[in-house]
Amino acid sequence: MYCEPSFNVRFKANTKSNSASGDKNGNYIHKTALIGPNVILGRNNYIGPYSIIGFPAEHKTFWGENMRPKFGKVIIGDNNIITSHVTIDAGTENITLVGNDCWILKGAYVGHDCNIEDNVTLSAHVLLGGHSIVMEGVNMGLGSMCHQRSIIGSYSMVGMGSVITKKSTILPFDTVIGKPARFLKRNIQKLSLFTDCQQLAEHNRFLQLVSQNH
Ligand SMILES: CC(C)(COP(=O)(O)OP(=O)(O)OC[C@H]1O[C@@H](n2cnc3c(N)ncnc32)[C@H](O)[C@@H]1OP(=O)(O)O)[C@@H](O)C(=O)NCCC(=O)NCCS
Repeated sequence: MYCEPSFNVRFKANTKSNSASGDKNGNYIHKTALIGPNVILGRNNYIGPYSIIGFPAEHKTFWGENMRPKFGKVIIGDNNIITSHVTIDAGTENITLVGNDCWILKGAYVGHDCNIEDNVTLSAHVLLGGHSIVMEGVNMGLGSMCHQRSIIGSYSMVGMGSVITKKSTILPFDTVIGKPARFLKRNIQKLSLFTDCQQLAEHNRFLQLVSQNH
C-alpha cells in the first residue's frame, strides 16, 4: 500500500535552473518545493516556494521501522494555488486529498488523511488536524485551526483565529468565530447562491460524513 522512496534520494527539490518550472500537465512548481513521488498531481496547479507535499505524517503508529518512515499517498486535483511554506502530509490509513480550484495560502498545514474538497480557501497559517474533512467552498480565515477528525460544513466561513474543537459543529453555510468556534450567523452571501434543495443536499452530505467519520 505504501510507496517507500529511498529517503534523501528521490525527495529532491526541483533542480531546474529557473526559479520555477512547468511540467507537461501545466503544473508550475517552484524549484524549492519538495514533492514526493507518492504525490499524484493533476493539472494547472501552482506550488510555491518551500512547500512540502507528501512527507510522512508525524504519526507514531505509521512512522515505520528503523527510522525509515512510510510514505502514504497524496492526491491533488486541478487548478489549485498552493503558495509558499505550505505543508501537506502524506496519508496514513487513507489518502490525503485536495480537490480542485482551492487556494491554500502561506504557511498552511494540512494534516495526514485530510480531505479538502473543491473551491476551498485555507488562509495563511490555517492548521488542519489529521483526518479532517473541509467540505466544498469553505473559507477558513487567517490562523484558524481544527482538531483532528473535524468536519467543516460546506460553504461555511471560519473566522480568523478560530479554534474548532471536538465539540464544535460547523454546519454548512454557517459563519463561526472564536475559541472554541461558535455560531455567529448564517453565511448569507453563499446561501443566496444556492436553491433550498441544494442547501438541503449539502446538509445531508454533511450529516453523512459526520456519521462516517465518528
Ligand atoms: C468572521 C468574519 C467573516 C465576520 O465578519 P463580519 O460579518 O463583518 O463581522 P463583524 O466584523 O461585524 O463582527 C461581528 C462580531 O463578531 C466578532 N468577530 C468577528 N470576527 C471575529 C473573529 N475572527 N474572532 C472573534 N470574534 C470575531 C466581532 O468582534 C463582532 O463582535 P460584537 O458584535 O460583539 O462587536 C470576519 O471577522 C473574519 O474573521 N474574516 C476572515 C478574515 C481573513 O482571514 N481574511 C483572510 C485574508 S487573506
